[in-house]
Amino acid sequence: MHAWTALITIIILAVAGYVGGQLSATRVLIGTIVPYVAIGIFLVGIAWRVIAWARSPVPFRIPTTCGQQKSLPWIKRARFDSPFTPGETIVRMLLEVLLFRSLFRNTRAELRREGPRLLYEEEKWLWLGALVFHWSMLVVLLRHLRFFREPTPAIVLLLQRIDGFFQIGAPVVYWTGVTMLAALGYLLWRRLKIPQVRYVSLFTDYFALYLLMAIAGSGIWLRYFTKTDIVGVKQLTLGLMTFTPVVPTTVAPLFFMHLFLVSVLLAYFPFSKLVHMPGIFLSPTRNLPNNSRAVRHINPWNYPVKVHTYEEWEEEFRDKLIAAGLPLDKESGNHV
Ligand code: HEM
Repeated sequence: MHAWTALITIIILAVAGYVGGQLSATRVLIGTIVPYVAIGIFLVGIAWRVIAWARSPVPFRIPTTCGQQKSLPWIKRARFDSPFTPGETIVRMLLEVLLFRSLFRNTRAELRREGPRLLYEEEKWLWLGALVFHWSMLVVLLRHLRFFREPTPAIVLLLQRIDGFFQIGAPVVYWTGVTMLAALGYLLWRRLKIPQVRYVSLFTDYFALYLLMAIAGSGIWLRYFTKTDIVGVKQLTLGLMTFTPVVPTTVAPLFFMHLFLVSVLLAYFPFSKLVHMPGIFLSPTRNLPNNSRAVRHINPWNYPVKVHTYEEWEEEFRDKLIAAGLPLDKESGNHV
C-alpha cells in the first residue's frame, strides 16, 4: 500500500513538472521561483537540523563499537572498531563515510522451516547496492557542475572523460547515471521482495527511492532521448546563480520535470531520512573516541547530590540492628 501511494505521489509530481514545463507562466514558476524556495527550505532546514544536533548534550562517550577497547597493554585491541585517539576516530569515520564499513558487516536473520531454524546471513548485496548508488550519485552531481560554472572546471571535464570512457553512442554514455538508476532499482526491489524489509517499509522509504529514480530516469531520458538545448539550460542555471534568472523558450518540458523533482528533493531532504548525509558527521555513536577506561568523563551539569551513606544509615539504626541481632559494620569491620 505504502509503495503504491508513494508511486502515485511521484507520478503526480512528475506530471505536474512536465505539464508546467509546457506553459510559459508555469515555466517561469518552475524555472525560477520553485528552485529558489526549495534551496531556501533546504538551507534553513539543514541549519536547523545541524544546530539541534550540535546543541544536544553528549556528556559521556557513547560510540557504538564491536571491538576490544584499549585497556591493558597485553590485551589486543581493535584500533578502528574501538578507536582511542582522535586520529583513529577520523580513520573510522572515513571508512564509514567512504566505504560504508558497518553496512559491510551487516547480517540478516532468517527463519527457516528445516535445518537450523534461525539463520544469520551476510548481506553484501545491500552494501554493494548502497555503495554503488551513493558513489554514482556523487559523480553525477559533480559532473552537473558543468551547468553551474563557466568555464567548466577541469576536474569536471576529467570526470566526464573517465565516466564516458567507453565512448558508446552519441551523446557519450555516462556510466554513473546508469549505475545510479540500476542501484536504486535494486534497493527498491529488495524492499518489495524481502517480506521482513517490506513489513518495516513506510511511505517515506518508497517516496525517497521513487523520487531519486524519477530524477535519474528523467535525466537519462533528457540526455539520450529527448535531447534538450544545453546552452539554454546553462543560461537558466547561471541566471539562477547570479540572481538574474532567465527562462529560455528552447529548453524541453522534460527538463522542467527534472528540475521540479530536484526542487522537491531539496525541500524534502532536511525533514526526511535522507538527512543522514550530514547527520553521520554529528553522530556521537560514531564521532567519539572510545576512551572511557582511561579518561573519566564527568557529566558537566551534575548537581551535588545529597547522599545517605551506609555508615550514616547504620549509625541511625544502630539500636534496632543490635536489637534484631544483625551484624554491624563498625563493630566487625566487614561490609554486610
Ligand atoms: C539531485 C540532483 C540531480 C540528480 C541526481 C541528477 C541526475 C541526472 C542524471 C542521472 C542525468 C543523466 C545524464 C548523466 O548521467 O549525467 C541527468 C541529466 C541532466 N540533468 Fe540532472 N540531476 C540532478 C540535478 C540537476 C539540476 C539541478 C539540473 C539543472 C538545473 C540538472 C540538469 C540536467 C540536464 C540538463 C541533464 C541532461 C544532460 C545532457 O544532456 O548532457 N540536473 N541528471
